[in-house]
Parts: sequence; structure tokens; C-alpha cells
Amino acid sequence: MRAKHILAIDQGTTSTRSILFDADARRVSMAQSEFEQHYPAAGWVEHDPEQIWRDTVATAREAMAQAPSGVASVAAIGIANQRETTVIWDRKTGQPIHRAIVWQDRRTSDICARLKADGAEDEVRARTGLLLDPYFSGTKAAWILDRVAGARTSAERGELAFGTIDSFLLWRLTGGAVHATDVTNASRTLLWNIRDQCWDEDMCRLLRVPAAILPTVHDNAHVYGATTPDLFGRAIPITGIAGDQQAALFGQACFSPGSIKSTYGTGCFALLNTGPQAITSHHRLLTTPAYRLDGRTSYALEGSIFVAGAAVKWLRDGIGVITHASQTNDLATQVADSHGVYMVPAFVGLGAPHWDPDARGAIYGLTLGATQAHLARAALEAVGYQTMDLLNAMTADSGVRPAVMRVDGGMAANDWLCGFLADLLELPVERPSDLESTARGAAFLAGLAAGVWSGLPEIERLWSSGDRFEPSMTDEQRAPLVAGWRDALRRTMLPRM
Ligand code: G3P
Repeated sequence: MRAKHILAIDQGTTSTRSILFDADARRVSMAQSEFEQHYPAAGWVEHDPEQIWRDTVATAREAMAQAPSGVASVAAIGIANQRETTVIWDRKTGQPIHRAIVWQDRRTSDICARLKADGAEDEVRARTGLLLDPYFSGTKAAWILDRVAGARTSAERGELAFGTIDSFLLWRLTGGAVHATDVTNASRTLLWNIRDQCWDEDMCRLLRVPAAILPTVHDNAHVYGATTPDLFGRAIPITGIAGDQQAALFGQACFSPGSIKSTYGTGCFALLNTGPQAITSHHRLLTTPAYRLDGRTSYALEGSIFVAGAAVKWLRDGIGVITHASQTNDLATQVADSHGVYMVPAFVGLGAPHWDPDARGAIYGLTLGATQAHLARAALEAVGYQTMDLLNAMTADSGVRPAVMRVDGGMAANDWLCGFLADLLELPVERPSDLESTARGAAFLAGLAAGVWSGLPEIERLWSSGDRFEPSMTDEQRAPLVAGWRDALRRTMLPRM
């Protein structure tokens, strides 16, 4: 075995993880830290960038310390991150000027509604592959510049830097030497032209974001810079960056057009590789770069669901229906069905394919016979129904019905959910032996640029299947379940008074 290790930093919505992989892509060590969510107003979600930074350094040190030869064997670092979450910091001091505004935050929904009413959405879609929704970074950045005293003037003078979390971490890890990002993170801002591969001046003007604050954009596998020696005892090259969902696609080795993965973390994000073709969606999906290697872009159609694991977290922390997330598997199998209970987890609005930022979560069909188990089951079933809606939209857009759905993320450990997904999607569901696809993807990208792996064929060989779930539900069984879901969705999205 070759002695090279790659450190993957997976900075997610609720936790920061550092995972060390060996040259056979096996996990050597891992350190994780959950961090605080701030909800300063209804629909607002913030993170403390300093806490994210501290946890990143602490978990990286811990993971590397557990390796047999410690930091010395680490060839490179790869970063995968929660996308869209927006940080603006002072270039001189390195200090953020506001807490990070998280992707789930809805505070800019009125700005998006106004732009939509002005008829801007078609142009936005054509240039960026996105829609006008508060999910993306551009309106969040403008909000910070408008609300923090003096920020807009400083931004125009080039004194401030904008970044998604990868960019902020890269800046800090390199001691302020590098202000850059990768093409997948850039493409989540509403400011990046996915066809011309450049920051789009018209979009910057439309969203009122000065170009002077934007990072330089590179391929996913690229020598971005190196850590300052004081952090880990020596300078380690940072050679891979990708938004976490694109990193998971890469980690799942979905390299051929028609291959698809769905990641079940805080939210659920399904990405279908469409190859060199950027397909414009007619079913309100996103068109996004999947990865760019040696200047060549592979695109994907993306379906973004904002709440998956977050609904289970809410059952645990919000209403105390369960004490541990893994209980949902047992509870769901204790009952024959959801007893007519449907949960529409629109806690932060609805993402694809509905894009309704003002919708809120709802539970329907409660009777006196409904129990904790039915609620847990309804929460898991909602994840399945939403994935089904995404897959149908993708098939309609691309004309391709994938042969298999690869799943990963924490919730994919739930056997019952994987079986239900196979039944609803009418597709085999394949779960890799290592569910940490996001971190693996970041490691693969970093390892490519660092010469640990030779190319995509070698990475494909490192992917290994764990379990496969075959569909077994009949059409007669599926139809009433799906009809109940459609009804619950319709009620949630009824025009609000
Ligand atoms: O777009 C948001 C996404 O990147 C968040 O991913 O894994 O933290 O739910 P996750």
C-alpha cells in the first residue's frame, strides 16, 4: 500500500468533519464536531464562521493525529462544504463582518419575489442555471452589504471578500494568501455564468453585488495553495474543492451521463450527470456544473430538497418524539403504514420542483389512532416522496431514466428508507460500503491534483457497493400512497391568505 494520505474536510450544515483516507480510499481516521445553529428570526438561519473555523482546525488536527505517521503522511487536503452559505469578511483583518447566512435562510425572499415580478427569472435561469430563490448566495451577500454599516462602500473599494464556506476556510488555511473558490461553489451564487464560465457582470449588477468582492474560480482538482505551517506543523497543499453535493456525486463515481446519486444529509440533493451538456430544465430543476477537470466541465441536473435529516432532527430536538435518529428505522417498521399521516417538511419553504419559499411544514391526516411511530414513518416517507418527485422531473427533462439510484449520507444507513425509496422510484437503490461519499469526493479531487490517483478510471475502481435494494411494491400498492402525498402537497401550497 502506498503511504500517502489525503485529508478531507467536510464542512456541513450541522457538523464539521475531518476524515483521513489512504491511497486505497479507505478511511483511516475521523473527527467530528457539531456546532450551534442560530435562528435570530422566523425563517432566518445563521452560523458563526469563527466556530466553523475553530472546529475545522480542531477536527483536522485530531484526524491527522490518529494516523499512524501523523501529519507527515498527508499529501494533500480536499474541502467539501455546505453550499450557498455566505460569508463576507474584511481582507485586512480576516474578520467576518456578519454571521454566515445559511443556505436555508429565507430572509431575502422578498428581494427574489420582486426580481421575479420584474421578469428577471428567465435571464437568471439562462445564465446561471438557477432560479430566483433565497436559497442562493447572491441576495444574501447583498443583504449583508446593505445592513452592515459602511459595508457597501468598503466592498466597492475592494476591502471586503465574499465567499461560500470553502472560500472562507481556504482564506484562513492559507493565512489570507488565497481568495478563491471552485466552479461548483461559484455556480451557487446567482452570479456565475455557467455557460461562459465567468462571473457575470449583468447578474452582479442585477443583484447589486460588487465584482470586487468575488473570489477567483478554479477547477475542482487544482493546487489552490498550502496551509500556513503554524496550523498543522508543516505546509500541506490544498488541492481539491467542491460543494458537498457535487463532491458526493464524485465520491459515488457517477462519472457517466445518466448516473445519479441522492445524498441524505440535512437536506436531500439528487444530481444526475448529464455529461458535457448543460440541460435547461423545464421542470424547475437546477442546471449546475458537476465538476470541472482540466478545464472541461461535466454538468448535472439537480433537485434540491431542503429538509430530509432535518425532519428527523426536529422529531428529536423540536418535539421530543424520539431520542435518537436511528430510532426512526425501528419505529417505521413497527407499523404497517403511516395510518394516513403525511408530513410535508416545508420547514424552510419548499425547494425543487416547487420553489415555494413561503410554504411552511405541515402534518395531515392525524386521527386519535396516530402514534409516534406513524409520525416517524411519515417523516421518512416524505423523503421518499420528494425524491420520487425529483426523479420524475429529471426523467422528463433529460429523457433518461437512470438504471440505478446511488444513495449516501447519514439517513441512507436506514434500511427501511432505502427499501421504500426503491419501491417508490421503481429502481434498484445502491448503497456504497462507505456512506461518507462527500468526504471521499473531496479526497478524490485533492488526490487527483496531488498525483495520488491517476484519473477517473482508477477512482471508479475504488468505489465499492455495499447493499442493493430492489423494488418490490406493486402499482396498486403505490398509487394510493402517492395520491395521498400529492393531496398533502397541494394543501400545503394552496394560495395563502
Ligand atoms: O445546498 C446545501 C447543501 O450543500 C447542504 O448540504 O449535507 O449540509 O445538508 P448538507
